[in-house]
Amino acid sequence: MPCPPITREESMPDPKLSSKSFTLTNNETGQSWELPLLEGSVGPSVIDIRKLYADTGCFTYDPGYTSTGSCQSEITYIDGEKGELLYRGYPIEQLAEDSTFMEVCYLLIYGELPTQDEKDKFLDRITYHTMLHEQINYFFRGFRRDSHPMAIMVGVVGALSAFYHDSTDITDPKHRFIASTRMIAKMPSIAANAYRYSRGLPFSYPRNDLKFSENFLYMMFSNPCEEYVINPILAKAMDRILILHADHEQNASTSTVRIAGSSGANPFACIASGIASLWGPAHGGANEAVLSMLEEIGSADRVDEFVKRAKDKNDPFRLMGFGHRVYKNYDPRAKVMRQTCHEVLNDLGIKDDPLLDLAMKLEKIALEDEYFIEKKLYPNVDFYSGIIFKAMGIPTSMFTVLFAVARVVGWVAQWNEMIEDPSQKIGRPRQLYTGAKHRDFVPIDKR
Ligand code: SDX
Repeated sequence: MPCPPITREESMPDPKLSSKSFTLTNNETGQSWELPLLEGSVGPSVIDIRKLYADTGCFTYDPGYTSTGSCQSEITYIDGEKGELLYRGYPIEQLAEDSTFMEVCYLLIYGELPTQDEKDKFLDRITYHTMLHEQINYFFRGFRRDSHPMAIMVGVVGALSAFYHDSTDITDPKHRFIASTRMIAKMPSIAANAYRYSRGLPFSYPRNDLKFSENFLYMMFSNPCEEYVINPILAKAMDRILILHADHEQNASTSTVRIAGSSGANPFACIASGIASLWGPAHGGANEAVLSMLEEIGSADRVDEFVKRAKDKNDPFRLMGFGHRVYKNYDPRAKVMRQTCHEVLNDLGIKDDPLLDLAMKLEKIALEDEYFIEKKLYPNVDFYSGIIFKAMGIPTSMFTVLFAVARVVGWVAQWNEMIEDPSQKIGRPRQLYTGAKHRDFVPIDKR
């Protein structure tokens, strides 16, 4: 019997109304409005401004949405001050240590850790969706061999809706489940094909006898001319890295997926939009940018020069892998990533990795520097990931692709939650217009 489709027993309840509220007063007219406060299970309450424009004729103004909640969600919670990250209530440190990426996928989608039977069924579903339609494998050949793999991933994932018409009806929970399963299952195959295509290697088909992360390493690095031996240390490290990157509240790429989905677009188009947003160096592209930055710094004696540049308002240079919109403390994922870095390098017999030494020195100096302390800038998830990926033999251009392989489960979980949330409607922000007022057209001979 296949896994249950992704649908809630009962629709998402309205958020709890707080006994407290805010009053907004127009000081010119003396008119006041009461703004209700809505409370979640943990974290900041929200001021319900859904009727604000209708009542006051004013919009709110919040570029970058620093103080704006776009939805209610039960999936992931971050306490930025404490540096805490929970997936469906479970601390990321415990999941990284004791769970597997497949279990975390089940948890993020269904809301509970699976029983053994539920886990086995889910794994079967994922395993039997890992192959790509053979025509898709030809699709790669339209790209130049030196294309950035993220460009290939955006193109190939967006094209999946041309192949899988049987899972694009977003109102049908069964369609949503198949599309979600296909996305989770096929991202490693697409990622591995993009890597192998750039190397002029033949594609390597997934194997149903391997676990998810083992299969990913196999599809990436196996050689058709000899047996490929899975390194259990690297497979465990890959699985843990995928767990760490799986979901993260309403970050830029997840918000992109949600707003694309709010128009009713098909799931594959929505995920392709998330991949495009993740690619930016301020977001998921930072892991690739951290490696380039470390290689540009080159040696520990140049660290002070770059830290000085990062603090210079007139210099656009930023310390990549540092800072976060939500974390004003150490990103808990970065702590696990740093520990995994040491384990992987140690297990690979890499005694002193110059990049890791440089990163540790850079981290130490930055964390002791007044500028970083005052602005609460700490290493984020991207600071160490590139060092591990490089040690695992993964090229820099593939780092954000691996981030996407992990984050796709967060995107599909959040996309499903949005579709099932009765309060959700098409996302359509307003603006503060500061352009030209009404004026009449001027013929060219009068300009
Ligand atoms: C991810 O949202 C998520 O959850 C994302 C993510 C996820 O899992 O989905 O966690 C993944 O994207 C992690 C972040 C990866 N990006 C980087 O490492 C790029 C470097 N970091 C920055 O560009 C920045 O910190 C952001 C983009 C991450 C956050 O930017 P914000 O919240 O808009 O903060 P800001 O740009 O307003 O910075 C506040 C101040 C500024 O100085 P002032 O204008 O107040 O004087 O801190 C400074 C910034 O100049 N600052 C930095 C800095 N980051 C912020 N100065 C130097 N180096 C940095 N890295």
